[in-house]
Amino acid sequence: MVSSGGSSFLLGMLFLVSLVSLQAEAATKKYQFNVQVSNVSRLCHAKPIVTVNGMFPGPTIYAREGDRVVINVTNHAQYNMSIHWHGLKQYANGWADGPAYITQCPIKTGNSYVYDFNVTGQRGTLWWHAHILWLRATVYGAIVILPQQGTPYPFPKPDNEHVLVFGEWWHGDVEEIVKQGNSMGLPPNMSDAHTINGKPGPLFPCSEKHTFAMEVEQGKKYLLRIANAALNDELFFAIAGHNMTVVEIDAVYTKPFTTSAILIAPGQTTNVLVYANSAPGRYFMAVRPFQDVPIPVDNKTATAILQYKGIPNTVLPSLPQLPSPNDTAFALSYNKMLRSLNTPNFPANVPLKVDRNLFFTVGLGKSVCPTCINGTRLSASLNNITFVMPQTALLQAHYSNMKGVFTADFPDKPPKAFNYTGAPLTANLFTTHGTRLSQIPFNSTVELVIQDTNLLSVESHPFHLHGYNFFVVGTGVGNFDPAKDPAKYNLVDPPERNTVGVPTGGWSAIRFRADNPGVWFFHCHLELHTGWGLKTAFVVEDGPGKDQAVRPPPKDLPPC
Ligand code: C2O
Repeated sequence: MVSSGGSSFLLGMLFLVSLVSLQAEAATKKYQFNVQVSNVSRLCHAKPIVTVNGMFPGPTIYAREGDRVVINVTNHAQYNMSIHWHGLKQYANGWADGPAYITQCPIKTGNSYVYDFNVTGQRGTLWWHAHILWLRATVYGAIVILPQQGTPYPFPKPDNEHVLVFGEWWHGDVEEIVKQGNSMGLPPNMSDAHTINGKPGPLFPCSEKHTFAMEVEQGKKYLLRIANAALNDELFFAIAGHNMTVVEIDAVYTKPFTTSAILIAPGQTTNVLVYANSAPGRYFMAVRPFQDVPIPVDNKTATAILQYKGIPNTVLPSLPQLPSPNDTAFALSYNKMLRSLNTPNFPANVPLKVDRNLFFTVGLGKSVCPTCINGTRLSASLNNITFVMPQTALLQAHYSNMKGVFTADFPDKPPKAFNYTGAPLTANLFTTHGTRLSQIPFNSTVELVIQDTNLLSVESHPFHLHGYNFFVVGTGVGNFDPAKDPAKYNLVDPPERNTVGVPTGGWSAIRFRADNPGVWFFHCHLELHTGWGLKTAFVVEDGPGKDQAVRPPPKDLPPC
């Protein structure tokens, strides 16, 4: 009797354990990422590229709001690697954020590291990418976060969904091209093509296999999950014969609006609904850069095909009308249409009172480089500081109180006010170099005005903050006026996102509550500018609560 009682107790325990692990299983999404070199051919040239699991673009991560995601990254490539889950908030868990030398040291060849995080309070489309060197040119993919089971979208239910990731392609080895540019002090050669899901489409040679096609059925509606993984180009996107209804940006629902084209900056994501209600046929979907200053850009158009079911491949598709490449007016009015949904279920919790006011100027410049072609190299700065990458990860230095890695004295404003966007400026503003961070007390509310300047040239800059979403409460062309502009802020339903396109020769004001402790990278998402030093980081202090402090680092954190 005793033994049978014991075994039924054991059985009961086993049943309980399996129940618990079943539940845990259902909420944990596991992925294995093998970073490896694969040969890929585009535009009639084959070359070895760094990929994840031999795929280009890499695998899409699927999760539901509330899930835990565990991704084991094993590095078989000759480069050190780290991967960033762009737009995921990583609450108190910067160890899973990924930017090399900011939150972790890179994963060396032959080693692995587990990115382990919870998806909390977010649903929509985000993306992931390598966050070291320019490796994100080929190491990227989409992240799809579905709403919790039983929670519908706040827009008409699509019949089907597709992911569209935009990228850039170079004929040559991107790391070599970047090295060459850096040694001469010049921008590296621009890309040779844009891509949609890794494919440039039929306007390029050897496109037979390299065209992405999406089949639709007449009368049905489709959710397109769009991410811009290009390194340096803001892009327009349009579909011939079809409008799009924007319903979400950067994994936050928006008030729906209909448009013939969208604008998407590197780092940003946009979900649109498309109704397949045009004459059955084949229609081009196209991307082409937006660039409204005379700075050279890869202006080539990538295309994919939206194809109605039953239409033969021999039917020639028509091209959509994209805004012209320098259509500033379109860019400004498009961004103005973006508003948070702001419903009781999806409120816009805009900070109304500001504890800390920050004003950062964006400057391009030249620094002395005796070995470079003109004796100078291009550089970039925030508040006249060109960021110097550390050798130790900043989050580790912060967590363990290591001295000498960074200073927490990034200035709240530039050293001198000037006419930021006036006549082209060449004046020496005494730019300095340093690993200087802005330190923010836990839970304080921050307003940051990012001001473009005309140092060398004005340009539009997509700024990305790790660890947070922020509200874009205001934006304008020219110099920010602290006396007049705040009165015009939208504090009701401003767009909430993780990457904001600061207009050319203008400014954007963002607000966020610093409730996520850790070290969070803040940088221009044009890889060119990040490399030149257009970056800094926020150190957000721990809060008083047990769960409001940076978690202990995982055991397999890569050594520096
Ligand atoms: Cu998608 Cu630090 O970047």
